[in-house]
This record gives sequence, structure tokens and C-alpha cells, in this order.
Amino acid sequence: MIPIFFLATLCLGVVPAAPTHDPSLDDEWQEWKTRHGKTYSMDEEGQKRAVWENNRKMIELHNEDYTKGKHGFHLEMNAFGDLTNIEFRQLMTGFQSMGTKEMNVFQEPLLGDVPKSVDWRNLSYVTPVKDQGQCSSCWAFSAVGSLEGQIFRKTGQLISLSEQNLVDCSWSYGNIGCFGGLMEYAFRYVKENRGLDTRVSYPYEARNGPCRYDPKNSAANVTDFVKIPISEDALMKAVATVGPISVGVDSHHHSFRFYKGGMYYEPHCSSSNLDHAVLVVGYGEESDGNKYWMVKNSWGQGWGMNGYIKMARDRNNNCGIATYAIYPTV
Ligand SMILES: *[C@@H]1O[C@H](CO)[C@@H](O)[C@H](O)[C@H]1NC(C)=O
Ligand SMILES: *[C@@H]1O[C@H](CO)[C@@H](O)[C@H](O)[C@H]1NC(C)=O
Repeated sequence: MIPIFFLATLCLGVVPAAPTHDPSLDDEWQEWKTRHGKTYSMDEEGQKRAVWENNRKMIELHNEDYTKGKHGFHLEMNAFGDLTNIEFRQLMTGFQSMGTKEMNVFQEPLLGDVPKSVDWRNLSYVTPVKDQGQCSSCWAFSAVGSLEGQIFRKTGQLISLSEQNLVDCSWSYGNIGCFGGLMEYAFRYVKENRGLDTRVSYPYEARNGPCRYDPKNSAANVTDFVKIPISEDALMKAVATVGPISVGVDSHHHSFRFYKGGMYYEPHCSSSNLDHAVLVVGYGEESDGNKYWMVKNSWGQGWGMNGYIKMARDRNNNCGIATYAIYPTV
């Protein structure tokens, strides 16, 4: 199977590469390529440099506005600097569609108050930040994240589970491996498969491979999954009472790709057009009153705040954080 990035690279190779560059950025460009281990063919180099300069400019402008107080978060050049938005979406996201309607709906607990802040990382519910690589398997990382939390809740053991097992083996449930997928299809696979292997026994490869599930190495079962009604209040109650929750978001803006820190709020975000899956591990409120979701991404620890992003909470479902929220029962 031809990975999407080959197609993208081939297509770009056809475009004559004659963009003009800012020579004062030569050193910075070399340094960036070295830091991220990038090598290009002669054909690619010019086009990649142009894209990188564009992204760099956009980051600079955003950060200037940030210092003037126009944004609550700042950006940073990172390993994704040589990708256009279209290439990036093909490579690094992979949230498929909204799935089916028939599923259990979260019953909001009838308790009066939930805590003002929750962070499941503090209670060992959350494995270290992982890296999906150039494979649209965000759905597998998100699904594994909430499953790891629920297994910990049940057994007291935090066991890193295998995304590759999901990438390779859940095609007949509707997932398409490194081309995209959906958390509910992943949960259905684990349920009917009666198991999911540990990450150590079935390591991540960032590509589609043959299914190598081995029941001897399984560390998780799923009995069912629960969908949370589209409401940030319901999501808060679920996070407070259940544990980390899998969610879809709209991540397709530059601001998300290059996020470094602060309170992420994107006015151009869609609340219905979701393209990426992540894990809500908690929520809270800043001293200035701004509320946030604490969100684990799967783009490595170098992205964002050691792999995490603080996303605006109770601001009209910004980026659709509450639009598709789901967790497995174990
Ligand atoms: C989590 O732990 C950090 C560091 O110990 C602490 O500052 C924070 O208040 C804790 N958060 C919650 C919600 O328990
Ligand atoms: C999962 O359930 C199956 C039976 O349906 C059982 O054989 C297996 O031991 C269970 N696995 C775990 C990790 O609990």
C-alpha cells in the first residue's frame, strides 16, 4: 500500500521549484533541517523551503500579536514546518467521520458538584505522550488513551496498550489503518476480539501491516462504549466521574499545528467539522477565570506543552471538543 505522503511528495515534485528565498534565513533553515533530520531531493528543496518560510512568517506574526495580548497562546516552529496545511491533514490527523447512531448515551450523574479542576495524570491514569508519526492513526491513540485509563481504574495497573494492534486489525470494523478511523470502531473491535495487546508486545510502526494480534499478550477487554451528549457540561461531568475521555476536534488551523503553550482558542474553528482525535485528561480554571480542557495529543513530547494542549472550555464548544466524546466500559 502506498502511504499518502509518497503521493503528496510525488505531486509536489512535478511542480517546478523556483520560489524565491530569504537568504538571511539560510542558517536557520539548515539548522532546522538538521534538528529534525530532514533531507530533500534537489527538486523538493526549493518547495519545502518556501513552505517553511511561509509557516515561519505566520508563526512570527501570531507571536507578535501574542506579545500585544491579542492571543492567549503562542506558537513555535516544529517538525511540521515543511508541510502545507493540506499535506499536514493527510499525514497527521485521521479522524474519519461521525460513525453510527446506535450506542449508549452517558447518563449525567445526579451529583450536585463536580470538582473545579481534575487532572487524571496526577492519579496515574495516563501513559506518557506518544507519537503517531506520519500515519493518520490519531483515532487509535485516542481510543487507547481512554482504554488505558479505564483499565487502570479497574485493575490499578497502568499498562500501555497497542495502537498498532488497532491499526492492523480493525479494518473490518470500519477503520482504515493509517488512512483514518474512529474510536467507536476501535472499541467495537476490542470488544468482539475479546482483547487488545500491550504496546510492548505489539509495538508501534506508523504504517499499515498484517494483523499480528496474540491473545497471550492481551491486557484489556471492552464490554461496550458510551457516547457523551454534545455539551461541555456533560463532558465535564464525564471527565470528573469516569476518567480520561476520547474526543474529536477540529485541528486543521496553523495555530493548532504550531501550538506551543497558553490557552488555545481559535475563532475560525469549526464545532462540527472534526479532523483529529485526542484525549481529554482533565479540566480546570486559570486564576484569570479562563477555563480550559487539558488535552493529550499524539504528536510526541516536542509538540505543545510536553505533548499537551490547554484548550478553551465553555467558549461555545470551540473546535468541537464536546461534539464527539466517547469512552469504553471495561
Ligand atoms: C496535579 O499535580 C500538580 C503538580 O503536583 C498540581 O500543581 C495540580 O494542582 C494537580 N492538579 C489537580 C487537579 O489535582
Ligand atoms: C478478556 O475476556 C476473555 C473472555 O471473553 C478472557 O478470556 C480474557 O482473559 C480477558 N482478558 C483480560 C485481559 O482480562
